[in-house]
Amino acid sequence: MIKITAASGITHQSTGALHITLLAITLLTSLFIFSNKAMAADMANGKNLYMAHCSGCHGGNGISFMQQVPNLARSGILAQTDPVLIDKILAGKNAMPPFFGILNDRQIRDIIVYARSLM
Ligand code: HEC
Repeated sequence: MIKITAASGITHQSTGALHITLLAITLLTSLFIFSNKAMAADMANGKNLYMAHCSGCHGGNGISFMQQVPNLARSGILAQTDPVLIDKILAGKNAMPPFFGILNDRQIRDIIVYARSLM
């Protein structure tokens, strides 16, 4: 009688542990899927914004047709850190208009991530 109780107690405990493990796996899996989706959404958003705001000067593929406009692709420009690039894009420079009030930091970060993928 005592043995049976003990045995069922152990079974109950291991079921509980199994439930927690399964819950953890489910949570981690959904986190992984969610973060991958978030990444994909950022790239798509970055592409749309790049095409709308930057491609006119820097070219759809990051190669500019205008002499005064630097290439973003195949250049070291996008090797600068995100905060530095965001500040520069917000501020503008010479013939490049400032994007302060037009694009927010998050949108510019999406654009940078997309532009880095251009070859
Ligand atoms: C009207 C044309 C024009 C548009 C639109 C434009 N740029 Fe530029 N961009 C330039 C020019 C010109 C320069 C070179 C400025 C200089 O150094 O004199 C430049 C420079 C840059 C640089 C290099 C900054 C540095 O000195 O390191 C980056 C990065 C950049 N642009 C990103 C972008 C992004 C991202 C967008 C869209 C949000 C964009 N540009 C839109 C014309 C443009």
